[in-house]
Formats: sequence, C-alpha cells, structure tokens
Amino acid sequence: MEKKIFEIAGVEPGRVRHMERTAAFMAEVAPLWNISPARAYQAGLYHDIARGLPPEEILRLCREGGTHPEPWEEERPLLLHGEAGACLLKREGIVTDEEVLTAISSHVTARPPMTPLARLLYVADKGEPGRKWEEGRLLRKLARKAPREAYFKALSLVIAFLGKEGLFIHPATLSAYNRALDPLSEEIRQDCPYCGRWKNRPAVVDGIVLNSQGKILLIRRGRDPFRGSWALPGGFMDWGETAGEAVVREVREETGLELKDPRFLAVFDSPGRDLERGTVSLAYYGTAADEGDLRPGDDACDSRWFSFSALPSLAFDHGKILSLFMERVRL
Ligand SMILES: [Fe+2]
Ligand SMILES: [Fe+2]
Repeated sequence: MEKKIFEIAGVEPGRVRHMERTAAFMAEVAPLWNISPARAYQAGLYHDIARGLPPEEILRLCREGGTHPEPWEEERPLLLHGEAGACLLKREGIVTDEEVLTAISSHVTARPPMTPLARLLYVADKGEPGRKWEEGRLLRKLARKAPREAYFKALSLVIAFLGKEGLFIHPATLSAYNRALDPLSEEIRQDCPYCGRWKNRPAVVDGIVLNSQGKILLIRRGRDPFRGSWALPGGFMDWGETAGEAVVREVREETGLELKDPRFLAVFDSPGRDLERGTVSLAYYGTAADEGDLRPGDDACDSRWFSFSALPSLAFDHGKILSLFMERVRL
C-alpha cells in the first residue's frame, strides 16, 4: 500500500526516508503529547506525499478537494502541498482518519486547526533526525519533554529562517506564532476603545435546518478555521440584530435558503470550542421554508442535505450541538 501510493505520487526515495523518519519520531514521542502512536506514525509517513507534484497538480487537487487557494497561494502552490496531499490520500482511500488528514493539511503553514497531532507533525517535520541543522537536536529535545515549547520553537525557527532568507511568510504561520506566544495576543484580541474589553460581539449563532424528509443542511467551510470541513450554517451576530435574526441571515447567506421560525436549542460555551476566542454559540433549529436550489455563499463553498445516518465529521463542536438536538428534540 505504502509503496503503491508513493509510486502514484512519484515520491523520491530521499523524501520517503524523510517521511519515515518523521513518522518514527512522532510515534516515539506521541504518548507524551497524548496522541496515539499509530495515528502519529500515519501522519508522519504520508505528510509530504504531494511535495514533489507539479504546481498545477497541487492546485488541481486542492480545488477538487474543496480547498480554495488564496491569491498568495495561487502564486506559490508549494505552500499547499499539505492540503493537496490530504486530498490525494483521501481520494485514494489511503487515509480515512480525518484528524490525520487535518494534520497533513496544516503541516506546511500551521494553518488552523492546529490540533495536538498537527502540532507534533509540525515539530517532527522540522526536527526529525535526518534534518541537517543544529536546531533539529533542540526541537527533538523539547518534543521529548515540553510539547508547547517545542511547537513554539518550531514556529519561531521557521519564521526566523524565512525572514532571514527574504522569503514569503504565510499569514497563517505568523498568526500561529502569535497564538502560541500568547493566546490573547493583540492580533486575536480586539479591544473596545472605551472599556478595553471585546470590540466584537463574541457571539455566534448556529442553525440546524431540516427539510421535509428529515434531512439536515450542512455547509462546507471555504475559509479558515476548519477550511474544507463540513459544519452547521452559522456565524457571528451583527450589531443591531437579535440571535434569531442572525441565524436566519447566516443560513440565507451561506445556503440561499430561508429558515422558518427558528427555535432556540441551547448555549454552547465550552472555552476551547472554537480553538482560540472562546466564542459563545447560540444554537437554533427549524425547517427550511422552501427547498429550492442550494446556493452556497459567504463562508460556505458548498452546501448539501445529509441524512442523519450518513453525517460527515463536523467542524468546531458542531457534532456536540447535533447530539444535543437529537437527544432533546428529534428523538
Ligand atoms: Fe511538507
Ligand atoms: Fe516534510
């Protein structure tokens, strides 16, 4: 299986060895990072599968898999070799574990979501024993005892290197560095000029929208975080609207459908639910007033009806929102 996929993607022997060393190192330190060694090994073994593909092939794989390159990525397709690799591995059925695919997608630029597995891959990729730089040893040492510090060090080394060489630094990498440095860094915190507290209304709404056959409406996220993942339609409340109005607006913007009489389900407020801001979500449910053509827009690059028996894995804590809905309302 390994050999075949490496052949399909034309991976050079030197790169195969880099991936094997990355995988072995990840499996070794995985328990300290609270990650299953098998999962860690798989992420390491396949992470650079698309690294040697021609630029146009990388872009094609991304688009086929639902990732929409940003303009600065179109100009530098190699930045997307993680995303392209994940798309290829998924398409060929080589990797089905969504968390492994997510980590492979993120390993080049540290784009969100940087799960513990994604962080370990980011560190191991730069620090595996075959890497010919002195800092590799430091990264291995940190990875064996202090995961947080190892991840921060890997980001700072990459940024320092790119800066010194005068190379482009992906916005996701800078933002990952700032978040790792201080989860409430200036970039993330947007202070109100009057009271010094949050400027945005840090509340989102999420909508569970059903049709007459009892299917549920999901969108595929076209932007980070969780770009490419399926999710409930929803988003930030605007100033001057109620939560009920916001959920109707978000469903309309992202799918083109009208949500009829949204009913409140629950508040979702666990601090880690959206990776960084701790945004509070107000979840609503209701039916679509019409079931005409779906027109994905705004944050959504796709929208579809799913039956409850065949749901994909969902972004954020949307799986939890749906479970509560099933428990309280649908069953
Ligand atoms: Fe890579
Ligand atoms: Fe690599």
